[in-house]
Amino acid sequence: MKDTVFPPSDALASKAHVDADRYAEMYQRSVDDPEGFWRDEAGRIDWKKAPTKIKDVNFQHGSVSIKWFEDGTLNVAENCVDRHLETRGDQTAIIWEPDEPGDEAKHISYRELHENVCRMANVLRDQGVGKGDRVVLYLPMIPEAAYAMLACARIGAIHSVVFAGFSPDALGQRINGCSAKVVITADEAPRGGRKTALKSNTDKALLHCDDRVKCLVVKRTGGQTTWYEDRDVDLTAAMAEADTDCPAAEVNAEDPLFILYTSGSTGQPKGVVHTSGGYLVYAAITHQITFDYHDGEVYWCTADVGWVTGHSYIVYGPLANGATTLMFEGVPTYPDAGRFWQVCEKHKVAQFYTAPTAIRALMGQGEDPVKGSDLSSLRILGTVGEPINPEAWAWYNEVVGDGRCPIVDTYWQTETGGHLLTPLPGAHATKPGAAMKPFFGVQPVVLEAESGKEIEETETSGVLAFKDSWPGQMRTVWGDHERFENTYFQQYKGYYFSGDGCRRDADGDYWITGRVDDVINVSGHRMGTAEVESALVAHEKVAEAAVVGYPHDVKGQGIYCYVTLMNGVEPSDDLKKELQTWVRQEIGPIAKPDLIQWAPGLPKTRSGKIMRRILRKIAEDDYGSLGDTSTLADPQVVDDLIENRQNRG
Ligand code: WT7
Repeated sequence: MKDTVFPPSDALASKAHVDADRYAEMYQRSVDDPEGFWRDEAGRIDWKKAPTKIKDVNFQHGSVSIKWFEDGTLNVAENCVDRHLETRGDQTAIIWEPDEPGDEAKHISYRELHENVCRMANVLRDQGVGKGDRVVLYLPMIPEAAYAMLACARIGAIHSVVFAGFSPDALGQRINGCSAKVVITADEAPRGGRKTALKSNTDKALLHCDDRVKCLVVKRTGGQTTWYEDRDVDLTAAMAEADTDCPAAEVNAEDPLFILYTSGSTGQPKGVVHTSGGYLVYAAITHQITFDYHDGEVYWCTADVGWVTGHSYIVYGPLANGATTLMFEGVPTYPDAGRFWQVCEKHKVAQFYTAPTAIRALMGQGEDPVKGSDLSSLRILGTVGEPINPEAWAWYNEVVGDGRCPIVDTYWQTETGGHLLTPLPGAHATKPGAAMKPFFGVQPVVLEAESGKEIEETETSGVLAFKDSWPGQMRTVWGDHERFENTYFQQYKGYYFSGDGCRRDADGDYWITGRVDDVINVSGHRMGTAEVESALVAHEKVAEAAVVGYPHDVKGQGIYCYVTLMNGVEPSDDLKKELQTWVRQEIGPIAKPDLIQWAPGLPKTRSGKIMRRILRKIAEDDYGSLGDTSTLADPQVVDDLIENRQNRG
């Protein structure tokens, strides 16, 4: 299976935006003449003032600076909405599929989108929000989430979306992290038949924030909320009163469009900053080419707008292209494991983009839930977020795609704004588990992990880095440019370092092998082990904690915690549950530890550094290759941990 190659279909290639020859020609030009290539591609969007300077990039640690289209001006919301009004005002921009299949789906036309974005932008202006101000969004997957993002863009404000699964503490940290003026939330978020009390979570978060932060509340369920007259605004009511027109601010290409917090290998999440011009050009071109999107098709990305995938491939990319984008409020398994496929049939979805963890979970439910729906509208399948195992790939290909829909395995990151490596449906063969080829302008290199030397041989493995910039690349960490440089440009000089390991096969195709740092990928959600550790040690009974990932059948990776208790505290199963609940409350449900192992001691070097490499091996049940343990302060600790690991019930 691993070595199987699926050639691109001739039928598809003949109609695709990009076939094999065109890819070769365009890719070559994109690296030989990036200025010319991206000057032309910038024409995909409407500029108020067209850029004359295309690219100004420095990857040298100490003076990292990334600028694209720097003297151009534009408005992102105008590009995603207004410019389509003349030609496709009545076309559906957003199809909204609610959590309950019995509730009515909404079809929002570009004209209605324009009206709603303007109304919300006017409400924001009334609240004193202007150019450069930060607005935090903590919302369900409802059309208002897209309106809010675009409303910010319209007035030049910077949004920071916080996934609705995050805890009040995590929300508060992010509101403070970017000193937001306003937070937009909803009363409740229905998901999988359950409700999350978003407004109540926001109330808790705001206890730790500046008193001046306003709270705008969308009415989603009509559920009871506590209301603070001087702070809270009924956004649904205010929008109904607001003007349906709102002037679009002229922003510079390099003005920030959004901040999105993401986990790193150390410390608390960092605010990834994306700017306006380059990001939009890159989101638009990748959406069109990777998914071979054609006018009139219904495109569905199942991600949440709380993640970068939702930003680039539910909202900005598709809407910049005048597409019809589907927004789904629910989960793959509610009310049953056929939901995704029922939605595909109902709305005649042509491109379907999801995560390997969802495929694995559905694969476990067998073929029947898929076979119950007519999936003949599907043309292209996509996956993102983590390496996909060949079994899940094969199931996706055969059972969902009926062997006729190419699978684009798109490798990218919050930091990269859009796809970096992916096969193109009409141009490339696919291989189960391979991210295949670089997108236009992207120059991957494989480096020797230790020396940082670039490996020239085609067939090789090492760490994945990139030689030059692309317009969608992040520009800085909000408020901490030094952290930006140190995280991505310090270890391997002159390159952007991804944090991933990779293999390049004899054909020159890329396979991502997973993170090589202390970031883990749980159900496609990115988590810093340091964050979980700091949540654990905040508990009064915990003295020390070390967290690593371990292989998990459905989630890809699970969260494995080694915990040293305070002196005198007795370990028990109840305490394990208490700690699981604790972390869940501190960070959110996605961070709940899967396994906790009591560790009377942790393996440390004589200088006190925890040797995670060893902890990872033990969690993986792989004791044969623990490597050198001679530098440990107390090698006995390792034997004890192994014994405990094996005795685990
Ligand atoms: C990390 C980035 C970008 C959207 C979702 C995740 C892993 C992402 C793939 C893929 C193998 C992948 C990498 C990367 N990853 N896509 N197709 N194959 N691994 O964004 O939360 O920023 O996580 O996800 O490890 O570094 P993110």
